[in-house]
Amino acid sequence: MRVAVLNGVNLDMIGERDPALYGGISIDELETQIYAWAQELGVTARCSHTNSEGDYIDWIHSAHTDAADGVVVNPGAWSHYSYAIRDALEILDVPIVEVHLSNIEEREEWRRHSVVAELAAHRVIGKGPAGYREALEFLAKGGAP
Ligand code: DQA
Repeated sequence: MRVAVLNGVNLDMIGERDPALYGGISIDELETQIYAWAQELGVTARCSHTNSEGDYIDWIHSAHTDAADGVVVNPGAWSHYSYAIRDALEILDVPIVEVHLSNIEEREEWRRHSVVAELAAHRVIGKGPAGYREALEFLAKGGAP
């Protein structure tokens, strides 16, 4: 099983952001942890991060053309307004898991809505870095709700 893990805008700064919300680890540490979990679960993960919305969309397209078996997305703030990312995700015919490190449902009003939520087969919100493990586990089990 091949899984693309796509971290979006400002996720490269999580180590500098509020540790109570984002876990206090760097994106490199997060990716190292994700690769370890993937290995444990027998999943081949490929982690990518970008602050460019166009690159993020290109990677979603690549996940489609390269036939990834599942996609884990944390689009950061794009989650709340990017219909371009939503449209790209809608092209995929593999399970999508939406992850947020923080509990967006208990933060500011504008964060509570995710424009990609209805495309997700599974959502993991507010569980910190461990949310990515849950996402991989969900996909490793076949990605069915
Ligand atoms: C986030 C939540 C978003 O609201 C925020 O803009 C982020 C990170 C999270 O992982 O908790 O940058 O996606």
